[in-house]
Formats: sequence, C-alpha cells, structure tokens
Amino acid sequence: MKVSSVLRLLLSILFCSLFTTCIPAGAQQAQSPAQAPAQTKAVAKDRPLPRLVQESGRHALFVDGAPFVILGAQVNNSSAWPAVLPKVWPAIEYLHANTVEVPIYWEQFEPEQGRFDYSVLDTLLAQAREHHVRLVLLWFGTWKNGSSHYMPGWMKRLPERYPRMTGANGRPLDSPSPYASEALKADVQGFSALMRQLKTADHERTVIMVQVENEPGTWGSVRDYSPAAQKLFESPVPRELLTALHKETSTRAANWQAVFGEDAEEFFHAWSVARYIEEVAAAGKAIYALPVYVNAALRNPLHPSRPPSYESGGPTDNVIPIWKAAAPSIDLLAPDIYLDEGAEYLKALDLYQRPDNALFVPEARNVPAYSRYFFAALGHQAIGFSPFGMDYTGYSNSPLGATKITEESLAPFALNYTLVGPMAGEIARLNFEGKLQAVAEEKGQPSQSLDFGSWTATVAYGLRQFGPGENPPGNPEPIGRVLVARLADDQFLVAGLFCRVDFRVSDSASGKQRQFLRVEEGTYENGTFRPIRIWNGDQTDWGLNFTSAAQVLRVSLGTY
Ligand code: DGJ
Repeated sequence: MKVSSVLRLLLSILFCSLFTTCIPAGAQQAQSPAQAPAQTKAVAKDRPLPRLVQESGRHALFVDGAPFVILGAQVNNSSAWPAVLPKVWPAIEYLHANTVEVPIYWEQFEPEQGRFDYSVLDTLLAQAREHHVRLVLLWFGTWKNGSSHYMPGWMKRLPERYPRMTGANGRPLDSPSPYASEALKADVQGFSALMRQLKTADHERTVIMVQVENEPGTWGSVRDYSPAAQKLFESPVPRELLTALHKETSTRAANWQAVFGEDAEEFFHAWSVARYIEEVAAAGKAIYALPVYVNAALRNPLHPSRPPSYESGGPTDNVIPIWKAAAPSIDLLAPDIYLDEGAEYLKALDLYQRPDNALFVPEARNVPAYSRYFFAALGHQAIGFSPFGMDYTGYSNSPLGATKITEESLAPFALNYTLVGPMAGEIARLNFEGKLQAVAEEKGQPSQSLDFGSWTATVAYGLRQFGPGENPPGNPEPIGRVLVARLADDQFLVAGLFCRVDFRVSDSASGKQRQFLRVEEGTYENGTFRPIRIWNGDQTDWGLNFTSAAQVLRVSLGTY
C-alpha cells in the first residue's frame, strides 16, 4: 500500500468517528424522520402515483405522469391463481394488452381473520412486471355479482354476525346486507391490508387502479326488508343526498317513499350499498391513494324496466347521481357491457361518459365481432377498455362471450392493440385534449362522418381498395373501425381497420376541393412519428383504404 493510500484510509477513519454518517445500518433505522436521507431518497425514486385528471369535462388516467389508455384484458374469475397463470400470459401476450385485470380473492387474501396472505398478490406483481404489463386489481370482497361468495370461510360460517339481506317474504337472500356493520368492518380491514401491502410492494406502480367489490347490489330483490333496513327506509332521506339531488327544502324531513315515490326502494338500496362501499374505498385510499372504481351490471339503457329485472343497488345509469353523492371516494363508475351490439351498446357508452365520470369499460363481451367497440369506446373518450375472459383456461361464458377462446377468437382484439399499442400514449393525450374521434361500423350504416370544423373526415365500409366510393355496401359483418385525430389545423393522424377514410372541406359552398399534400405511413416510437413510406397513386386516389393490416397514417391536407 502506498503512503498516500494509508494516509487517505487514516483520514477516512478519523472522519467517520467525528460524524454520524458511518453509523451501522441497524442504528440508522432509529433516526427521526427528519434525519432520514435514505428514506427520502427511496420515496424520490418512486414513480408518481397513477391518478385521474379532469379538465374541461374530459378525463385522463395519468400513469407515470402522462395520459395512459388501458388496452385491457380481464381474466376469468378463477384465473388469478399462480398455478393457472401459465394459461393466462400467452393470451395476454398474443393480445398485446398493456394492462391485465385480475381478481384478488378475499377468501385467499385473509384465510383467518387478521392474517393476510400476500403470496398471490406478490406473484401477480412479479409476473406482471416480467410481462411488462400493468394491473388493475379487482377486490372480490363483500360483493361479487350481487352475492358474497368470496367472503372468507370464517365469515361464511357466522351468518348471524355477517348477515345476508332479507327478502320481502322474510327469508334470507343470497346477497350481503349493506347494513351488516361487522362485515363492513371486516371488509375495511381486508381492503386496507391490500392497499397497505401495495403501498409497500409496488413502488413501480404496476397496479394502476383498483376495483372495489364486483358488480355490487342484489339480484332478485329491490332492497333489504330486514327490520333494521325497514326502519331506515321509513326514516328521513339523508340531507346530503337531498342537497346533492337539489331536492326542495320542503321534502327535507320526508322519508324515502315520500321523496322518491316509485323509485324509493331502488334509490334507498343504491344509497345503502354505495355508503358501505364508500367506507371501504375511503379507508383503502387513506392508506394508498390509487384511483378506485365500482363496476355496474347494467340495466337495458334503451328500455329500462324496474328491479328485480336487473341488479338493484349497483351503479346503474339511473342512480349514478346517488352513487356520486354517497361515495365521493370512488373515482369512477364503470359499465360492464354485455349488451347487444348497436344502439344499446352505444347508449351505455353515452351514459357513463359524463363530465363527472370518466368512461372506463372494465368488462366487455369477448365475442370477436364486438372487438370494434374498443374504437367506439375511444370515441367516447374512454380511459380504457377490457374484454372479459381473456385467457386459455378453457372456460367460456357463452352466450355472453365467445364459445371458445383461441388465437382465432382473440385475433380481432389483438389487431386493435397491435395497431394502437405503439402510440397508446399519443392516443390518450390526443383524446384528453379533445382532438380525437373514433367510431365503429354498425349494421345498415355503411358510412359515417366525423366533424373536425373546417374538415370533415368521411368513413366508408365494404369498398374495394381500388375504385370509386359512392354507395358503399358496408362490410358483410360490421367489423370496420377507425380513429382520426387532429395533429394540426390541416394535419391528421388516421388509423383504422376494414374501412376507407377520406376528407372533404366542410364548407361545401366554398367550392374548394381537398388535395393530399402528403400521406405518410409510419409508426410511433417514444411519442415521435417515424414515416416509413409515402402513400400516393392508387394508394390515395380513391381515398385511404385500411384492411386488416395495422397501418397508421399522418395525413397533410390542402385545397385547390
Ligand atoms: C360480470 C362479472 O363482473 C364477472 O366477474 C363475470 O362473472 C361475468 N359477469 C360473467 O362471466
């Protein structure tokens, strides 16, 4: 050792004995928070929390500090077990999904009261990271499709302590009571443990959103008829609800029946279920403030009847204002869309896209023909879309979903995500800025137009690539879909499948015709458009034709 090195070593020993920076690791933990630079450093390394942002009536889910669109896939109910995940990941990879929705089963997570088993959650986090996808966790807690089948065994064995609802005939129903205070306490504890563990284990923000409960509410009865519920039903409607619904002051002392008439029982149940879930959500968010949502089993949006013909108490379209008032901690209410294609489906998108509610479709039919509705959802400013049952475990929820899940049945969904995936951040940003429009083809509607002010984009379906475009016949099955986004006054991003897109000057009286200044095909890489070729000649003379190829165009327009 050289003399200078020995000197340096001696000096550093002297330095260490004078200052506290060389205290052993164990002793460091005893520092006061103000003295804990190591901890501050760890927090600074964290990625920003995912959050929902609302501006000018539009919404975005921010992930890693930027708008993000969920190209989602929800697995089957019993597919989140480590032993089964090998049958999940190949489907997710094939789909090019960027987010997987997976359940967290209360019965697995808390096998004994107060003892939590994080093993499945840890596996999900690790495997999602390996596969470079985000997760939306579905808390299968007190409610799962209106029942309480995921309550842990230690709860199921004590029905008196954790009661079900009472039907109008006085018999118990297979649906948890929203007035069960011990069950609520237990759910608060279980959900809090989940959020606490995520806060500790997920500095990478692999989990971007959490669904609290699953399709809560009740099938087969409009409300609880237990004596406790009856007493509340006959009591005055809570003040905060009357205020939120702008009800007259004279109604303030009146009970549910007097205020809401024939809607009273349903509104009462919606309020009760929402209040319960509000407590669960608020407790979890106080620990770790991820965006949370509640999903709805929908009623028919065009021909609504009354419960019990649909699930009562969940956030169906008619009770959204009640849920908003009762559950301010819930960031959004989300439609599970298993409706028929066409007007019903589109109406559901309309109803949940609101200035006070970001549209997110956490479940949708995985029937191939329905893949086009990903585009319709984007056209409704959706922050995400997720078909249900997307794994190779062999389960099919037909007739809701496809009869068999194979690469062939997944292909039309994979096409969506292959096309949009590389530019997903751009799409989310453009949508948040109100610059994007997107549509899906409907039977009997072979053309559509998108109004961009000075320009109108026209979309036609079922045409050959070569030849004029009058009277398009529509595709034999309605599989067309397209998105158009304005990048500058006269420049558009266009990406579609099975359709022809063109532009015209909106002001037809101007006598001006459009000309393509430049039509570039390219790809987005890290937010920048990289052209690979220019389309011209046959490729533009009849309009811009999209087939099953994932092609993205940047179109610059002029007039003559
Ligand atoms: C809606 C539920 O939310 C899902 O968990 C699942 O049960 C589907 N219905 C049916 O497959």
